[in-house]
Amino acid sequence: MTETTPSRQRHAVVLAAGKSTRFKSEKPKLVHDLCGKPLVCHVVDKLRRLDVGNIIVVLGHESETVRQALSESPVQFAVQAEQLGTGHATMCAAPALAGHEGSVLVVYGDTPLISHETLQSVFECREEQDADEVILTAIAPDPYGYGRVVRDVDQTPLCIVEEKDASPDQKAICEINAGFACFKIETLLENLPLLSSQNAAGEYYLTDLLALLRNSGRKVIAVSAKCFEETAGVNSREELAWAESHLRAEIASRWMKDGVTILNPATVYLDPDVTIGPDTIIYPGVFIEGKTTIGPRCKIYSGCHLLDATLEEDVVVDHCSVIRRSTVGRGTTVGPFAHLREHTSVAAHARIGNFVEVKKSVIGEGSKASHLTYLGDATLGRDVNIGAGTITCNYDGVNKNKTIIEDGVFVGSDSQLIAPVTIHQGAYIAAGSSITEDVPAESLAIARGRQVNKEGWAKGKAKKKG
Ligand code: UD1
Ligand code: CA
Repeated sequence: MTETTPSRQRHAVVLAAGKSTRFKSEKPKLVHDLCGKPLVCHVVDKLRRLDVGNIIVVLGHESETVRQALSESPVQFAVQAEQLGTGHATMCAAPALAGHEGSVLVVYGDTPLISHETLQSVFECREEQDADEVILTAIAPDPYGYGRVVRDVDQTPLCIVEEKDASPDQKAICEINAGFACFKIETLLENLPLLSSQNAAGEYYLTDLLALLRNSGRKVIAVSAKCFEETAGVNSREELAWAESHLRAEIASRWMKDGVTILNPATVYLDPDVTIGPDTIIYPGVFIEGKTTIGPRCKIYSGCHLLDATLEEDVVVDHCSVIRRSTVGRGTTVGPFAHLREHTSVAAHARIGNFVEVKKSVIGEGSKASHLTYLGDATLGRDVNIGAGTITCNYDGVNKNKTIIEDGVFVGSDSQLIAPVTIHQGAYIAAGSSITEDVPAESLAIARGRQVNKEGWAKGKAKKKG
């Protein structure tokens, strides 16, 4: 591995202390979900994919809620006690940058759609040109609310003017400041204290640094993003909905390029961390969330909902089934209308049929529970057959108890297995049994009231009536 020279080192500051006034929410907008993950985590995860040393997140308004959303991310925190603007928020991160060399990218926590390539190009431009500041710009179809980039006659950037401070001529400019500014660390630390709050908002704007640096003869560069969409900020619920549909379409398109058939992508919801193998077919109206992994050649039919699920190859999940935090082995069929709850593991070539609920259970290879069954806290061996209407009675009102069903067991329909109980290898349970004791291997257990036929009884009853 090659050592990074100090001048090539990369750091980042994520501003996440703002009040989210336009969101009209009790909680900060940065913890609202976008495609199943908090808004702020999108930009942080993108930075982690770059070669960024320290990621410093500036917290302020509702800081604990935002800190919680980032609890699994390897970031450092800085605190902005009072929200005095983006320049002031960056000042709060300055102590964490002191003593470092190289580049620092200051990004806003509410710009989740930025691409890896664009972030990389902003860093590279700063490094290759040894610039003091590189800003990213885009042409917005409706620039309202964004800082406008004013250029000189030679097209070099002169300054950024915020909406509130812009003249009518400046408001007509469609080139906006996307909110990704990369600085030489030394330059940033030297110049941050020079910012003033003499503007319409009475805030310290980070964006004022561009003019300040240019006027003192420093090297400032503006690079353009591939498209406006990747730079869009999320300031309102409408913008959140727009970002959601944009990101979903992008994720679906990526998987289709990788060989997945998605019959109606507009109706399929795939979270960013989902992975799908080639030749898998996803029917309309499917939700696949969290860290779900789907192998090749699977079929996921309409109305299914998968969360943190792992499916090996050739799995069929039939209509309206729910699989959460569970794994399903090769060639197994689940559903229609099945529910695999947390910590369930179904092995290969098994079958979990309609109206079957399975919780915290292990189902062995080739085993079948085809209809109307509840299996909870159960361990099933190989080639077990569970008849329709079987229930593991796992809860005695205080404790959850285990049911063990060994290889080759046949459980007749409408049986209750009252846990804790073990059905040993190859045993048969007669239909309609309430099993309270262990069943030895290769035996038949019958545990139900005996049938009594009273011949002619009904005829007598009919006579009385007449
Ligand atoms: C900002 C830019 C604007 C740019 C736009 C891009 C400034 C002054 N304006 O405007 O030029 O076009 O983003 O999306 O920088 N924050 C803090 N502390 C504060 C204020 C804000 O941490 O005191 C954080 C917010 O949590 C947010 C980010 O900074 O994540 C940006 O703040 P926001 O109010 O959304 O800025 P915009 O008005 O969108
Ligand atoms: Ca914003």
